[in-house]
Amino acid sequence: RKNLSTTDHLRHVESMSTLPSGAGKIPKLNAVILGESLASEEDDLVFSSHDFSQKAHVPSPEKYLEMYKRSIEDPGGFWSDIASEFYWKEKWGEQVYSENLDVTKGNVKIEWFKGGITNICYNCLDKNIESGNGDKVALHWEGNEPDVDGSLTYTQLLERVCQLANFMKENGVRKGDTVIIYLPMLMELPITMLACARIGAVHSVVFAGYSAESLLQRIMDCKPKIVVTCNAVKRGKKVLNLKEIVDAALSESSQNGISVGSCLTYENESAMKKEDTNWQNGRDIWWQDVVPKCSTMCDVAWVDAEDPLFLLYTSGSTGKPKGVVHTTGGYMIYTATTFKYAFDYKESDIYWCTADCGWITGHSYVTYGPLLNGATVVLYEGVPNYPDSGRCWEIVDKYKVTLFYTAPTLYVTRYSRKSLRVLGSVGEPINPSAWRWFFNVVGDSRCPISDTWWQTETGGFMITPLPGAWPQKPGSATYPFFGVRPVIVDEKGKEIEGECSGYLCVKKSWPGAFRTLYKDHERYETTYFSAFPGYYFSGDGCSRDKHGYHWLTGRVDDVINVSGHRIGTAEVESALVSHPQCAEAAVVGVEHEVKGQGIYAFVTLVDGVPYSEDLRESLVLVVRNQIGAFAAPDRIHWAPSLPKTRSGKIMRRILRKIASRQLDELGDISTLADPSVVHQLITLADS
Ligand code: WT7
Repeated sequence: RKNLSTTDHLRHVESMSTLPSGAGKIPKLNAVILGESLASEEDDLVFSSHDFSQKAHVPSPEKYLEMYKRSIEDPGGFWSDIASEFYWKEKWGEQVYSENLDVTKGNVKIEWFKGGITNICYNCLDKNIESGNGDKVALHWEGNEPDVDGSLTYTQLLERVCQLANFMKENGVRKGDTVIIYLPMLMELPITMLACARIGAVHSVVFAGYSAESLLQRIMDCKPKIVVTCNAVKRGKKVLNLKEIVDAALSESSQNGISVGSCLTYENESAMKKEDTNWQNGRDIWWQDVVPKCSTMCDVAWVDAEDPLFLLYTSGSTGKPKGVVHTTGGYMIYTATTFKYAFDYKESDIYWCTADCGWITGHSYVTYGPLLNGATVVLYEGVPNYPDSGRCWEIVDKYKVTLFYTAPTLYVTRYSRKSLRVLGSVGEPINPSAWRWFFNVVGDSRCPISDTWWQTETGGFMITPLPGAWPQKPGSATYPFFGVRPVIVDEKGKEIEGECSGYLCVKKSWPGAFRTLYKDHERYETTYFSAFPGYYFSGDGCSRDKHGYHWLTGRVDDVINVSGHRIGTAEVESALVSHPQCAEAAVVGVEHEVKGQGIYAFVTLVDGVPYSEDLRESLVLVVRNQIGAFAAPDRIHWAPSLPKTRSGKIMRRILRKIASRQLDELGDISTLADPSVVHQLITLADS
């Protein structure tokens, strides 16, 4: 490897050029360096190789700036040029997009490609087959057990999708109906999503780690025509009886007046036999008995760009989960484009994203984004450390994965990983040392890292590196994607410029933005557009450095991010207080070595109840049962009373400090109704 000096390759590119009509500033790219796999500790810049950059879709900062500038100055032109590469039965209207993000100016409304008629399933499958890729592998599936696998070409995938689409149509599922999918990472999961999209049904995937209670809540909210599930799944050595969970939810929902017509159940043989599965005749149908008999051809339901594609429930800081609604056209163009650029996708790539389709990452970057690009996608049913911690790298080697996208919580062993080209990271801030480990060890100091910042609500990447385009800084998500205008505002909602830190908002709309919350447009407006009028508020804190790089600092609201799963403190609290012996609960996030953030719960008990190990266990259990195992508190802290203001508001700021043992940073506690509570809690923390 040649050792090039920094100055040899240092070029100064324009800094901060202002765009016309107050559209905002373009990112400041000051020092731009092209070196050869050269990691520079002093200035904390990491360069991609000259060779990588030359072949990249965006080979230089200048190219990025040129494209970014156009995307901001002429969003309609920029996005309609890209959209024209996809299939539209009818082109969108005169106006490419319309937007109102300002609640003070009436209802918030975002539309892209309105009037355009298309189908995302058609664009994922038929279109790629027509262009000659029918025999290319669309999905490689790796089972929980290392010797269980399978794959489908684009043609085979289309046939499977059509069969299921026909079954659903025959069973009364119509355009606009909702379908709940409660499946683990089997090929049947993306198949079901695509089948819904094909017939214009709206899918709502519920992560198959949610409890019966959570599933019930979602069934009651969106009233699905059918539920698609499987009997069981093996995660590592554990067998999870999913059908039992679905049965509990379905019988409860029918007692509450919502009866779901059919429950299509896939027999996941390697986890559980048919005979051992709970069954309700008349309602339950075995997938393998009916779907393979359906025709492998199914006409597409052509839909408007603004027709809903899916809803996905996500946790907020208060109340029940919100049904985030994404529509078809803008989401399609946005996920396809972000996938292509953020991973520098090339036809020969093999792509693996470790996320589950139960989360937005699995929607945008396991299913739609990659398939729209005609990519080969690896799906993995199991857990990263089964049968041992080398499993992920075994899978990388087995399928010769070139693009690997994951949350920053994995282990590494002896495997070669020679195939890797680009690494992706998502879900939580990645600290510089974890970044360097990912870069040096996993990627052999050769693979650029795309630290992608985005959210369920944004549909796709918002702030992300473009591999090869500019040097990276470990731990920074770098610059905005095309068409995205991130702004940092202070408490008063005033935009701050240059080097700064504050609340991360977005100005103007982008095609992948969510359009509403299911049946609750008012909550959409108050949660996201009222805090800082005129902007979409992300709920994240962010700082910008002197080169214009963005550094995400975590949630500023009461949302916790556990291993990249978003959990609302309010939900965990309401589960805890449903325990008959728990009087009050306050939940905060704390730093966790493996999960990013852990869940720390303060509980007060009903008068006279003593705190015990048994009680602790049953409190944890109540959360597992009501939400799911992934939301189980890591720590329960018994509190005789909680620190409150004189008006009775719990002071979470103080609880966070106690939970993270930052006792010298408690701040002013004089406004508390009873300051002695704090000392009591500190004493109990160590006992
Ligand atoms: C929240 C969104 C979007 C995919 C997975 C989670 C955090 C996401 C990053 C990142 C720092 C990140 C934010 C955000 N987050 N990506 N690269 N760096 N933080 O989706 O459940 O909607 O959660 O995840 O806090 O608000 P989600």
